[in-house]
Amino acid sequence: MSANVLVTGGAGYIGSQTCKALARRGVTPIAFDNLSRGHRSAVQWGPLVVADIADKEAVAAAIEMHRIDAVIHFAAFAYVGESVGNPAAYFRNNVAGSLRLLEALVQTGVRDFVFSSSCAVYGVPSTVPIAEDSETRPINPYGDGKRQVETMLSSFGASHGLKWTALRYFNAAGADPEGDIGEQHEPETHLIPLALRSALGSGPPLEIFGTDYATPDGSAVRDYIHVADLAEAHLCALDYLRAGGGPGAFNLGTGRGYSVREVVAEVERACGSTVPCVAAPRRPGDPPQLIADARRAHHVFGWRPVRSDLESVVRDALAWERKTLPAPGCEYRR
Ligand code: UFG
Repeated sequence: MSANVLVTGGAGYIGSQTCKALARRGVTPIAFDNLSRGHRSAVQWGPLVVADIADKEAVAAAIEMHRIDAVIHFAAFAYVGESVGNPAAYFRNNVAGSLRLLEALVQTGVRDFVFSSSCAVYGVPSTVPIAEDSETRPINPYGDGKRQVETMLSSFGASHGLKWTALRYFNAAGADPEGDIGEQHEPETHLIPLALRSALGSGPPLEIFGTDYATPDGSAVRDYIHVADLAEAHLCALDYLRAGGGPGAFNLGTGRGYSVREVVAEVERACGSTVPCVAAPRRPGDPPQLIADARRAHHVFGWRPVRSDLESVVRDALAWERKTLPAPGCEYRR
C-alpha cells in the first residue's frame, strides 16, 4: 500500500469512511474536497485540501506536496433525480471534472487509480443478480456519467499506462461502526435514514415509492452494502493494483436483495417503534430490482462484505441518527 493516498471527495460519506480505513492501515489519506457537498467535520484522519478536481494545478500541487502515488476518486454529485433535472451540472462536475483530474495524474505520473462507480451504469437490468459483463445502459445522466468516466479510464490505461479499477457500488448504507462519521446528505433522500427518522418521530411518514412492482411484496428491491465494507473494498482494490492487477470494473454488493418493506420492518425492529408509511407512486428512473453478483471482487482481490447483513446496516445507521438527532424544532444540521 502506498504511503500517501489522495482521496477526492474525502469529506463525503464513503470517502471519509475510506480515509478512516486507510489511516487504520498506517496510510495517510489526503482528503481533496471542494466542500460543496462534503463536510469538514468528516475529515479526521489526515489533512484536507479544499479545492476542486477540475482545478488541474491544485490537484498537481497536492500530489507533489504530499508525495501521492495513488488516487481514490469519490468526488461527484450523487443524486439520480437531480441529474435528470440538471444534466449539465452532472456532466460538468462528474465527467469533465474527472477528465481534468486524470490529466493531472498523467502530468504528475501517478498511475494507481480507484474510481467510485455505480450500479447506475447498468440501468434497468434484464437479469438479476447483475454481473459486470451485463450490458451497461444507464437511464439517467448520473449513471451515464459514471459509464463515461469508465470509458475514459480505459483509454487513459491504453494510452498513458494508467492502472485503474472502477468499483460499482450497489446501495451504500449504514454508518461508521464506531460512530465517528455517517450519512450527512442535504437533502437526505435515501431510504434507511428517512425510515429511521420516521420511526424516531424526527421526520415525516415514509413514502413507499411504488407498491406494484413485480417483486414478492410489490416494493422495490435493492442490495444494501455497509459503508465500512465499501471502504475496505477500496483498500483491496489498491492492493490489487499495486500487486500488478489489471484494469477492470467490480461490483460491490452482497448478492442479497431486500424490498423497501423488508427494510422498513428491520427499522421497526431496531427502533422498537412503527415506521408510519404511505404508498406513493414509483419514483421516475427507479429500476424494480438491483442485486449484485459480486463474485468477481471476491475472486480477484479477496473482498467479501462482513458487516452488510441488514441488521448491522440498520443498527449502525440508527446509532448515527440518534447521535445526530436535531433538538426539537430544529432542522437536521451536522
Ligand atoms: N425509497 C422509498 N422511499 C423513500 C426513499 C427511497 O420508497 O423515501 C425506495 C426507492 O424507491 C428505492 C429504494 O427505496 O427503491 C432505495 O432508494 P435510495 O434512494 O435509498 O437509493 P437508490 O436505490 O435510489 O440510489 C442508490 C444510490 C445512487 C445510485 C443508485 C443506483 O444512492 O447513488 O442507487 O440506482 F445511483
